[in-house]
Amino acid sequence: MRSRKFLMITICFAATWVLITYIFILKGNHPPNLELQKKLIKLETGVKEYVEEENNSFQVFLNKLKEKIEEKSARSIDNTIQVNNENEMEENKTSIIENISIAQQISQAENVESTTFKNIVELAEIVETHLPNGEPIIPVLVLACNRVSVSQCLDNLIQYRPSAKQFPIIVSQDCGDPPTKEVILSYKDQVNLIEQPDQSDIYVPPREKKFKGYYKISRHYGWALNTTFGKGFDYVIIVEDDLNVAPDFFEYFLGTYNLLKKDPSLWCVSAWNDNGKLGNIDSSAAELLYRTDFFPGLGWMLTKELWRELSVKWPKSFWDDWIRHPEQRKDRVCIRPEISRTRTFGKVGVSNGLFFDKYLKYIKLSDEYVHFTKMNLSYLLKDIYDDKYIKMVYNTPIVTYGELRNGLVTVTGPVRIQYNTKDQYKRTAKFLGLMDDFKSGVPRTAYHGIISLFYNERRVFLAPGANWKKYDLSWS
Ligand code: UD1
Ligand code: MN
Repeated sequence: MRSRKFLMITICFAATWVLITYIFILKGNHPPNLELQKKLIKLETGVKEYVEEENNSFQVFLNKLKEKIEEKSARSIDNTIQVNNENEMEENKTSIIENISIAQQISQAENVESTTFKNIVELAEIVETHLPNGEPIIPVLVLACNRVSVSQCLDNLIQYRPSAKQFPIIVSQDCGDPPTKEVILSYKDQVNLIEQPDQSDIYVPPREKKFKGYYKISRHYGWALNTTFGKGFDYVIIVEDDLNVAPDFFEYFLGTYNLLKKDPSLWCVSAWNDNGKLGNIDSSAAELLYRTDFFPGLGWMLTKELWRELSVKWPKSFWDDWIRHPEQRKDRVCIRPEISRTRTFGKVGVSNGLFFDKYLKYIKLSDEYVHFTKMNLSYLLKDIYDDKYIKMVYNTPIVTYGELRNGLVTVTGPVRIQYNTKDQYKRTAKFLGLMDDFKSGVPRTAYHGIISLFYNERRVFLAPGANWKKYDLSWS
């Protein structure tokens, strides 16, 4: 028994030193200074005493400490990524200093009366990023500005979230609007408020003055995502303050987050169907999901790896169109549902209801609860999907829009309408009630050029010729 304990203490010493050295090597910094070394020696003593006092929880303590330090050092690597403006540089510096101070704080823990792990975590202000069962904690980042109606969004999120622990709500407020802040604070500890600190007048090139809102939104997104991922989370769900969410919103993301890790061709899961109007969806297919080349946004999840990639070049404005550009997208796709799991009520907003009255207000919010976590969703992985889905589409009979509208289609089941030119696409899309615009040449909801929709109770694929190779950037 004694020798086992001795062995454990030795392992503990070794592990602590290895991990601490690891932090500094990975940071590419100088070795720890004398002051810090002294503190680390104190830490060893502290851990030793802790182990002797409460040897039963020693292994748990050591494992957790290890995990935390590893997580922290991974984060310091994240933080050494190149930065492209001074603000970010300043933030970077701060978080590196913060990391060092965490090592120091851990080392001081021995002075605390009861050296429990909880104390250490609190002292170091370490944020838990996983549940005890290993599942990720996925914060929902709500972007707010000056709409007091953010309460509609928050009420929904709070009502439907299956666990406050797994889905902490972080409301990031831009604009500093006091009434909106009051509303957010009224939720007490059900939500966490963070505030975009830079309220200086944002620089906008003179010719783009009217787009100032888009500059502010972009700045806010960049800051809020940096701040949230900076806490170490693997995934973040982003929601804007004018969105309602569906009852199975959280279940949808729980069922799909793994796919983002498994399939490198996936870069987001979105709750939004751009063509999700009642007449264009199959109301009985709430469980149906798709891959799409068109980035939908409006309630979506990304990984920290993607954020690491995008954050270093985050644009000053029009972040969503920027993200859809091939330079960013690199042929990656999102998952989207047949029936939207979000709906926007923000008629008055930065884009001034551009599409609101024409499309957005008709998007159907799903009301059925689908148990996504109990379903096999591997059909969405690229290899399986491309083989099955695309083949299935091109096996359907071709019809014309006229035949479809006039009930002249004699076959039952899904059919396909072919388009060959941009104008053909736009015309047919309009007839069918779809959004007819393109971003970086990609029609909304398209996958390999194919748009799946419902029309007169029938599945229809609006699709280019079978020899389709790539999107044409000049289609706009
Ligand atoms: C549209 C998009 C939105 C996208 C935005 C930027 C739709 C329905 N909406 O915004 O997804 O992010 O373009 O390209 O397609 N906000 C700030 N600071 C501001 C103003 C707004 O943070 O100064 C926040 C709002 O709280 C909201 C988000 O930015 O969460 C979008 O603002 P909104 O006014 O709703 O603009 P949309 O026209 O919907
Ligand atoms: Mn909006």
